Amino acid sequence: MNENLKDFIKPGSEEELLVNQIDFSRLPRHIAIIMDGNGRWAEQKNLPRVEGHRAGSKSVREAVETAAQLGIRYLTLYAFSKENWKRPKREIQTLWKLLKDYLKKEDKVLVGNRFRLKVIGQRDKIPSSVRNELERVEENTKDFDRLTIILALNYGGRDEIVDAVKRIFREKEHDIESLDEEKFSHYLYTNHIPDPDLLIRTSGELRVSNFLLWQIAYSEIWITQVFWPDFRKKHMLQALVDYQKRERRFGDIHPHEK
Ligand code: IPE
Ligand code: IPE
Ligand code: MG
Repeated sequence: MNENLKDFIKPGSEEELLVNQIDFSRLPRHIAIIMDGNGRWAEQKNLPRVEGHRAGSKSVREAVETAAQLGIRYLTLYAFSKENWKRPKREIQTLWKLLKDYLKKEDKVLVGNRFRLKVIGQRDKIPSSVRNELERVEENTKDFDRLTIILALNYGGRDEIVDAVKRIFREKEHDIESLDEEKFSHYLYTNHIPDPDLLIRTSGELRVSNFLLWQIAYSEIWITQVFWPDFRKKHMLQALVDYQKRERRFGDIHPHEK
């Protein structure tokens, strides 16, 4: 096993078996996660939905640590969609409060580990106390690059594309004929971030729910029935093992068939 992982993976564990199957020279550069199933996790335990969100924060910590230990460079977490504003006020308030608490507590961990935090989504509707906290942490971590954690907050994939078009229109100096996919992508919130290689969704839903519509064009998708609060490092390892068994053809055919 990779020497650096010795303290992180227990010898003889299920995780060790999985790690031994991973080819570290072919890791995804960017993993994106739709963290779903907090409500159902709570319901199953006869708890209020907000307890599911609380338990979900622990999974966020573990996912971040696992990604960093393995050497993943970008981790995007879908934490609040534009459509999530439809939920009851109390649930929405708890979600933002949990995020604020996370930022307050994890701030030192992020800096200590040289993790960079970046927010994508429409910031103006994020409650101002949370936005201030986010911008403070973004500023404190902007020069780090070991792991970039991208939080999708008040995020909508269609919004992102419309916002890009608006910016292009505003910057009138464009020669519109020269606009191509590459240039267009610089106007997205994810400018300078490579597209996700692997998209994980927990809790079994088979949909993308307006997440990174442009960027997931060729992402490999891995869906687990596990609810987000139960998501542990072994699940990320399972996703990686599965990812490495796939052949990413990007429209081409297998080289042996040419
Ligand atoms: C994901 O869990 C968290 C957010 C969307 C903020 P849900 O709250 O959607 O949980 P389910 O899907 O209702 O179980
Ligand atoms: C997607 O989950 C949004 C986040 C994980 C933040 P939802 O629970 O909101 O998605 P739908 O409603 O099941 O599509
Ligand atoms: Mg859900």
